Amino acid sequence: MSTQIVQRVFGGPETLEVVDVTPPSAADVGPDEVLVRVAAAGVNQIDVMTRTGGGMAAAGIITLPYTPGWDVAGIVEAVGSAVAGLSPGQRVLGLARFPKPGSAYAEHVIIPAADLVPAPENLSDDQAAALPMAAMTAWQAFTDTTAVQPGQRVLITGAGGGVGHLAVQLAHHLGARVIAVASSGKHEWLRELGADETVDYRDGDAIDALAGMVDVTLSLAAGSRDTALRAVRTGGTLIALGGGAEGLEAAAKQAGVGFAATHVHTQRDWLTAIADLAAHGVLVPTVSEVFDLADAADAHRAIESGHSTGKIVLRTNSRLGS
Ligand SMILES: NC(=O)c1ccc[n+]([C@@H]2O[C@H](COP(=O)([O-])OP(=O)(O)OC[C@H]3O[C@@H](n4cnc5c(N)ncnc54)[C@H](OP(=O)(O)O)[C@@H]3O)[C@@H](O)[C@H]2O)c1
Repeated sequence: MSTQIVQRVFGGPETLEVVDVTPPSAADVGPDEVLVRVAAAGVNQIDVMTRTGGGMAAAGIITLPYTPGWDVAGIVEAVGSAVAGLSPGQRVLGLARFPKPGSAYAEHVIIPAADLVPAPENLSDDQAAALPMAAMTAWQAFTDTTAVQPGQRVLITGAGGGVGHLAVQLAHHLGARVIAVASSGKHEWLRELGADETVDYRDGDAIDALAGMVDVTLSLAAGSRDTALRAVRTGGTLIALGGGAEGLEAAAKQAGVGFAATHVHTQRDWLTAIADLAAHGVLVPTVSEVFDLADAADAHRAIESGHSTGKIVLRTNSRLGS
């Protein structure tokens, strides 16, 4: 049998049911698909929003019952007849079918080959599962929405979370001067990751001193929207992701600041780029908490705190890498 999480009703973490099903076989794999034995699945805020009936449920993209999860790392068990470049036994990572149901909270999942790339050997399974959504979000922000240039001042609020800690590393890699806004307990770690300056969002004077000082802000925390906007110089760019950004676009326009609120998706060159950066040690996902797949509800309780460090990951019994 194969264990997976199923949700039959929207609501709290307790709605994440553990069920055993017959695992899919090679016969179930479509021509462009891959059967993956999952080693680890990343946990994201959108998983939580959708679980409660918001996120992709509110968008009408996900209906009950469904198996949650999009971030996945595992090993290829079977490939469809039209799949080139992936073969059984290979370690892969990817963002499964996002924003459609990805079903990554499972021991086995069938995923379009286009959503997968080989997993870098230097990443553990947990790190590989932590990478896709968060790193592609940072990549989209700094290379697609705006193109961060060497020497630019880039502010990241929510820098200690899943997206933020990878955004710090990416902005540093692109040659920016990186200012990370996070609770003070995360400052030393964020400096090790490439932040040039760290600011605690509870330090009013330090926050005030940021006003008009940066070229680009990536705002990742609902509680930091005002700080994020005030920090951007006239003509700069504010990228605001997640909830709590209502009214921000109009305020940015009034301040003469460019505004973007994007939604991540799988783009193959982005996925390849972030996997390559991880392979070269430029992007190093920090996994602070690991839960068994069967304890998905506890993993959701942990990320719902809103103050997690780096990424939270679910682990199956299919251990593959270190
Ligand atoms: N649009 C998209 O495509 C997309 C993609 C991915 C994520 N998102 C959204 O982006 C947001 C961040 O995602 P995530 O996965 O990084 O979340 P996360 O892992 O939960 O991290 C959020 C971080 O924000 C910090 N924080 C809380 N209040 C803060 C404040 N007032 N100022 C600064 N930092 C604060 C928290 O830690 P401390 O308080 O300890 O510093 C935590 O580390 C979420 O809203 C998510 O839904 C959007």
